[in-house]
Amino acid sequence: MRVFSGIQATGEKHIGNYIGAMRNYAATQDEGDADFCIVDLHSITVDYDPQDLHDRTLDLAALLYAVGLEPDRCTLFLQSHVSGHAEAAWLLSAVTGFGQLGRMTQFKEKGEGKEFVSAGLFTYPVLMAGDILLYQTDIVPVGDDQRQHIELARDLAERFNSRYGELFKVPRGVFPEIGARIMDLQEPTNKMSTTGGTQQGTVLVLDPPDVIRRKFKTAVTDSGREVRYLPDEKPGVSNLIEIFSVATSMPIADVEAAYDGRGYGDLKGDVGEAVVELFRPVQEKYAELRPDEGELRRRLHVGAEKARETSAPTLEAMYRRMGFVRP
Ligand code: AMP
Ligand code: TRP
Repeated sequence: MRVFSGIQATGEKHIGNYIGAMRNYAATQDEGDADFCIVDLHSITVDYDPQDLHDRTLDLAALLYAVGLEPDRCTLFLQSHVSGHAEAAWLLSAVTGFGQLGRMTQFKEKGEGKEFVSAGLFTYPVLMAGDILLYQTDIVPVGDDQRQHIELARDLAERFNSRYGELFKVPRGVFPEIGARIMDLQEPTNKMSTTGGTQQGTVLVLDPPDVIRRKFKTAVTDSGREVRYLPDEKPGVSNLIEIFSVATSMPIADVEAAYDGRGYGDLKGDVGEAVVELFRPVQEKYAELRPDEGELRRRLHVGAEKARETSAPTLEAMYRRMGFVRP
């Protein structure tokens, strides 16, 4: 079985990324051949700073190794190191409907109210589809916000297969049962995000322990006092319960039982502490890995070579099926 996922290079990684995606990369790397891609080419579709892109890319590589991706159990690489990704995006744009891209909610959200909306922001889901399809991927571990993009990738695979002959495997998104959509602690009806959310309501994987504790202490909860998992009625408390459940591996029903008759305050304090413990080993490992840029670059270089080898036959087949004369 082949596993593939991608994660953006810019934007500091938060507990939503960790729970919704990163920890599941680490868990799936032994289920088959796993490729994980830092999608640096995606970063230029919105306003960004070149130096920031450069530094954040290396930060993220160190962070992914720190959460448990092992260079000998999976392939981690940078999208820009494997030129086939940009080529596949162009080829797949031939089977992508203009109207289809216009319906992407992420495009609408990210473009809303902006003075300048890049063409790249519009076509970005095609690049993402190519990322996945080039690796003949079976499963894609991602958070809930990527459902529509995965649907598009499936659709493009099917359209290509029927127009040019069977080539791509049709991938399946895998979403975590708990934590597929972690909410902002200050605005629990909005998804946690470094671009759209509040700073105080966004817990970063690399936040110092005191900052993590404070963010949970000041989390917005709902009226009432009962610690019950009811995402529609009690979004704030339910979000904390989900985070606590993941951080402690305690089923949701057990969390409810443990806090029965106690107020929200106890829960907030305990979730903060549990998350500090959850991130402690990650932060320690990160501090070890990040300064050695030579080693990070070496690992990424090896990853790119492996990724190129895996994806090259599919890219070549795309060109041939589409009628290109090959060198
Ligand atoms: P990004 O940093 O936007 O590339 O997102 C990386 C991964 O994190 C994707 O699989 C997203 O679906 C996932 N993700 C982002 N925000 C959240 C969230 N608030 N809750 C759960 N998963 C998330
Ligand atoms: N678009 C995804 C996001 O915003 C990142 C991504 C790019 C991705 N390519 C991918 C995710 C391929 C899964 C598979 O988070």
